[in-house]
Amino acid sequence: MWLIALLVPLLPTIFMVSSHYCGKLSILCHQALAWALRLVGGGPCLKSTHVFVFSNCTHGKGDSVLETFDLYAETHQSLCIGPHIGEILDDVVKSVRPLWVLELGMHCGYSSGRLLRLLPHGGRLIAVVSRFLHSSAEAIPTLHSFLESDQGTSDGINLVLMDHDSQQYLLDLLALEREELLCPSGCTVLLNRGTKEPMISEESWITPEEESIPTASKQKSQTGGFANLHLYFAF
Ligand SMILES: *[C@@H]1O[C@H](CO)[C@@H](O)[C@H](O)[C@H]1NC(C)=O
Repeated sequence: MWLIALLVPLLPTIFMVSSHYCGKLSILCHQALAWALRLVGGGPCLKSTHVFVFSNCTHGKGDSVLETFDLYAETHQSLCIGPHIGEILDDVVKSVRPLWVLELGMHCGYSSGRLLRLLPHGGRLIAVVSRFLHSSAEAIPTLHSFLESDQGTSDGINLVLMDHDSQQYLLDLLALEREELLCPSGCTVLLNRGTKEPMISEESWITPEEESIPTASKQKSQTGGFANLHLYFAF
């Protein structure tokens, strides 16, 4: 499972990993070449991050993989969200116990790893790699096929982690709502890496200061019908 979690950034735009069918990996889009070309550009180097983590972690041990990512981030530029935000995300996952998680904006696989290790039996993670322009907007209408593969037992996506282009957050929330993909009692976590102001005003989010232990029953809706918990973290 960890191998998959760590290799996924090397794969094209959308993939799904089940928490127990470790080998199951679905690739929907065929933009690998464009993605690979972008990867060659500057910024933190995914390849060297993964070489470091694979060489130094204890394979098969989720916590060791995360610690090794954190160790790398101490001395190198990194896209990891880090242990502080990571632990808050852990609390959200433990509280919501999501069966379906959507990660919009997967970077180096760190957040995916954090999410995967805490999913309950049968839980699934769908991650959309953020490196293509508009990849989230293109991916959202295709997500039904994943949920339908659950033989109609799914109530929708229970947890959404947005860590892509913050200008896209509101549009993507509305699209998820329009497509009726969200479980009403679910939770959305938005990360702002500080590059651009999100189009959704910060006052509408419950911040960690207000709500250090999030629970899925807290509601604060910005987008009308999207009545689930929104958590916002800037870093
Ligand atoms: C493993 O970690 C050590 C430092 O703890 C580092 O010097 C070494 O380069 C790492 N291995 C790889 C292959 O990156």
